[in-house]
Parts: sequence; C-alpha cells; structure tokens
Amino acid sequence: MPLVEVTNLTKQYTPGGVKAVDNVSFEVQAGEIFSLLGPNGAGKTTTLAMLSSLLKPTSGEAVVNGYAVTRQPMEVRRSIGVVPQELAVYEDLSARENLRFWGEMQGRHGPDLQREIEEKLALMELTDRATDRVKTFSGGMKRRLNLAIGLLGNPPLVMLDEPTVAIDPQSRRYILDWVKKMNREGVSVLYTTHYMEEAQELSHRIGIIDHGKLIAVGTLAELTELVGQKETLTLRLYQEAGGERLAQAVTDLAGIHQASARNGDVVINVDSAEEALPRVLARAADLDLSIRTIEIQEPNLEAVFLHLTGRALRD
Ligand SMILES: Nc1ncnc2c1ncn2[C@@H]1O[C@H](COP(=O)(O)OP(=O)(O)O)[C@@H](O)[C@H]1O
Ligand SMILES: [Mg+2]
Repeated sequence: MPLVEVTNLTKQYTPGGVKAVDNVSFEVQAGEIFSLLGPNGAGKTTTLAMLSSLLKPTSGEAVVNGYAVTRQPMEVRRSIGVVPQELAVYEDLSARENLRFWGEMQGRHGPDLQREIEEKLALMELTDRATDRVKTFSGGMKRRLNLAIGLLGNPPLVMLDEPTVAIDPQSRRYILDWVKKMNREGVSVLYTTHYMEEAQELSHRIGIIDHGKLIAVGTLAELTELVGQKETLTLRLYQEAGGERLAQAVTDLAGIHQASARNGDVVINVDSAEEALPRVLARAADLDLSIRTIEIQEPNLEAVFLHLTGRALRD
C-alpha cells in the first residue's frame, strides 16, 4: 500500500474561483523521495497543506499513512513531520527552547524529549548555538532549526515545502545531503521545489505541477523520455577551427544522435555519455585535435517542462 495516496484532490480558495489545485492524483511509496516540481503559484504549498490536513480540500481525498485527511486530520498530523515553507520558529526563544516548545505541543516531556532535542540540535549542527535567541541566527540556521522541529518524534514520512529557498549555498547543500541521508535511513519524503536541479538530484520520482494540474509523473528517466532527451556532451577544443571536422567525424559512431559545432564548441547528443566519451576522444586524437574542456549534461527537467507547457521553468 502506498504511504500517500492522492485522488482527484482539488482546492478552490473562493467558490467558483480559480482551482489552486485541480484534480490532482498521485502516490508516494514507502521509502521514496517524491518531489512536486513547479513554478511559483503552481499549487505546491496548497497540495502539501491539504496532505498535512491543515487545509480542507474542496473535493477529492488523500490517504496519508492509512488516514484520510478529510476524516482523520488529527491522526494524519500525528503520523507525519511537516516543514512548512514559512518558518515556524519563535525569534525570541533559543533553538533549544523552540524545540522544547514544539515537542511539548506533541504532548511529550521529560528525559525522552530532552534526549531527542539534543539529538536534533546535533543533527542540524546547532548545538553550539543552542542557547542563543533565534533572532541572532542566519537564514540558513533558522531553516535548519525548522527542519529539526519537523523531525521531532522521528516520523516515517516528512513533508518539506521548498526548504532551500532564500538561504546560503552551504545551508542548501547541508539540507539536500541531509534529506538524502534521512531517506537512506528509511524516512519517506514528500518534497516540493521550483528548482529542477534539486528535484533531479533528490527524487526517486517527480510530479510536475503547473497551474494546479499535475501534468506528468515519473522517474527522471521516464520524464526525459517524454521529450526523447538524451545526455549532451560539450567539448571545447584547443583548435577552435577543428570543431566542424570533429562533429562530422563522430556522427557515424554508435550511440551518437547528432553532433554540431557551435561557437567553437562541439555539442554531441548521445544515449550515454559514459559509453560515447571514449569513442569521441579517440576520434579527436585521430584528427590531432586536443580537448580543453568536457562538459556532460544529464537529461534535464527544464526541457521536460518546456516540452509540456511551452514555457521555461526558470524564474
Ligand atoms: N490563502 C489563499 N487564498 C487565496 N488564494 C491562494 C491562497 N494561497 C494560495 N493561493 C493561490 O493559489 C495558487 C497556488 O498557490 P500555492 O499553493 O501557494 O503555490 P506554490 O506553493 O506552488 O507557489 C496561487 O494562484 C495562489 O495565488
Ligand atoms: Mg509554495
């Protein structure tokens, strides 16, 4: 049985108004990192708010950890961890006090809670600053504290709503690595983002959402197959004039779809960069061309989004 089962979920904030979430259905399997990827205003937060039973659907249903969000909201909330897009931390309390507050909100207390608070502070590398007021924290530290709060009670499923927006690259890296680590330890994750690189790096499966509609769901490979997209090799030569010759010389190699020279770069579409690269390098050597740089671009969700919507995903 899937951990999350969403069926025709719909939300209209105003009767007769725009559908912020429009007839969305998908599943999250136990053990998975599932990402909802879509631009601002696509309906990610609204979907997550309904799945965490904080917002009532206009129609449709979602079953989370076996509980129906419309009929068992308290059970749903108790069975998951939620890290909302808006920070839910008290600026005038210390990190440790924030964790204690939210732990007590779950009806917990005593040495067991205390132990977990210290464990979460250490996990998020906040132990050194545990007694400082949160208002003295950087954006990244506040985010990490928010994450620690969402993890209290070690829920089997954690929902994270755009946890890396507007933070420094180091905290972002930390959060992404931590999501992967937590998942390896058995926690299932429902993640939302408008950054395709994050969805690509993290997810077992991805749902692409736009204007409230889920327009595609699948693994990265399944989604990029929709566009017929393969990997791209970009080579820069020391001898710029040799680009044309190399492009022509590699077109008949196995696993190569297309090659062209552009502004001194040779751009080659391949099935697999790993398999094609040695053959391409051998051809370059045959032609006495030497390579300055090589870039390998993986199949990419940007292209999928463009293909499905006619628009770029980037801001
Ligand atoms: N409380 C609200 N009242 C009315 N409209 C809302 C509310 N929250 C969000 N919306 C609208 O619903 C749509 C989806 O928003 P949201 O779920 O926040 O998208 P995302 O999280 O993908 O950026 C947007 O058009 C947004 O303006
Ligand atoms: Mg949002």
